[in-house]
Amino acid sequence: MIAQMIKVMKSSDLGDGEMKEEIVNGVKILIAHAGNKFYAVESRCPHMGGQLAKGKLEGTIVTCPLHGGKFDLEDGHVVQWAPRTPRLLSATKIDKLIGHNRPLKIYPVKIEGDDIWVEI
Ligand code: FES
Repeated sequence: MIAQMIKVMKSSDLGDGEMKEEIVNGVKILIAHAGNKFYAVESRCPHMGGQLAKGKLEGTIVTCPLHGGKFDLEDGHVVQWAPRTPRLLSATKIDKLIGHNRPLKIYPVKIEGDDIWVEI
């Protein structure tokens, strides 16, 4: 599939420190406003699918509401991997079930006037 720029929302609809889940081209994307920048990343946590839009945004760090995993919106890297994972299973078994930690997928964002465009 060839990537294309898609207009997602108005930048004025998302205040500084706010984030929102949008479906763009059939893909759930988290749009976030941090400082003077807007970010677009996959909206579900790569750990066990937590809805990041219901988490917390501090600067460019988003915290997953389920187990507290932290990711940096700048490049999607893992700041802290799921510190509140239930300890019912060993780390090895959990790794087999849900895979190793991985960063968030990020999408290029362009602002034109009051419009936020995302390349997907
Ligand atoms: S689902 Fe996000 S940290 Fe577990």
